[in-house]
Amino acid sequence: MAAACSRNHHRESRHSALGLFSAGNNMSCKSLWTLALLALTLSRCVADDDHEMEEFLKREYSLSKPYQGVGSLGSSHWELMGDAMVTTEQVRLTPDMQSRQGAVWGRMPCHLKDWEMQVHFKIHGKGKKNLNGDGLAIWYTKERTQKGPVFGNMDNFTGLGVFVDTYPNEEKQLEAQKKRYSPRTQRIFPFVLAMVGNGSISYDHERDGRPTELGGCNAMVRNLKHDTFLFIRYVRRRLTVMIDIDGQHEWRDCLDIPGVRLPEGYYFGATAVTGDLSDNHDIISLKLYQLTVLRSKKEEQEEEEDQITIPSVDNMDLLRLELVEERMSGVAIFFTVLFSMLGFIFLIVIGLVVYSHWNERRRKRFY
Ligand SMILES: *[C@@H]1O[C@H](CO)[C@@H](O)[C@H](O)[C@H]1NC(C)=O
Ligand SMILES: *[C@@H]1O[C@H](CO)[C@@H](O)[C@H](O)[C@H]1NC(C)=O
Repeated sequence: MAAACSRNHHRESRHSALGLFSAGNNMSCKSLWTLALLALTLSRCVADDDHEMEEFLKREYSLSKPYQGVGSLGSSHWELMGDAMVTTEQVRLTPDMQSRQGAVWGRMPCHLKDWEMQVHFKIHGKGKKNLNGDGLAIWYTKERTQKGPVFGNMDNFTGLGVFVDTYPNEEKQLEAQKKRYSPRTQRIFPFVLAMVGNGSISYDHERDGRPTELGGCNAMVRNLKHDTFLFIRYVRRRLTVMIDIDGQHEWRDCLDIPGVRLPEGYYFGATAVTGDLSDNHDIISLKLYQLTVLRSKKEEQEEEEDQITIPSVDNMDLLRLELVEERMSGVAIFFTVLFSMLGFIFLIVIGLVVYSHWNERRRKRFY
């Protein structure tokens, strides 16, 4: 537990998001806050996802300076492909030039059950906003070193992809976009999203992966002076993606989905691609932590019996529906209110007609 508390500056610094530091100047107040903060930090470490967790950096799945032997044959845990290049400062997947693609792939399959990857990356280039592209992706897949159309990786991949998509293919046609989505449902780019493939699910490039999206968030990551991070955690079949892009050392939630089934023994990798538009896509480090999660006997048994061989997401249809509904709700509310009002007016009119009819007949009876 000590490891989880002391090592991860990011997780600790999340607490400052609560704004406790900004409180009060006087001394006793300050110490009170410190105590409160301490208590919070401690309880958070113990009760992360209600389970005690330890984490260990796994060097064989991590990539960091000085990138010793990266790219040279056989002497490293990482293999370079395409236009990727190593410098002293970064692994540059693509330079800021048209039609490039590059990748770095781990050589060792990962057999950890629960893990967390912290990606230190940088996307920058000369292009103005929306005149840059296309983005980078982080992978945990069965296949490795394949080239293709999904951010430089093959389509119909098997496993997990987390994309930092910097160019809106669909949204570029603003008019089409307005027709299809209400303001609330529009995605603002750059956009971070996750997808799980099973070998026969195609990434819809024209629609920026919308049909297969598990969730995502906007992330203004280009041309920033401070460091930018992506965090991918996979614990007890729960996938969590967070970003730290504001230079505040705070993780911001991006997506969090239970029931994500990923087999063990897949490969980590990072890829990037440029087209007519370009950017430098740099990986500064990939740090993979093994998480040790305590499981009950029953849970262990269940997982033993329920071996995962093909990646999938529980209740994917429901999830899609929720995403669509969430995105639809603005329009839906408008029409619900409109039709309710129309219905109400209709009822009143009918009522009035019936009443006047009845009134007339009654009057006639009196004569
Ligand atoms: C992959 O997922 C699709 C869509 O959910 C499904 O139709 C297909 O059967 C799955 N393929 C495998 C091999 O499980
Ligand atoms: C991907 O899978 C889809 C549907 O299973 C198929 O139509 C398509 O040809 C496949 N694409 C590739 C590149 O294998």
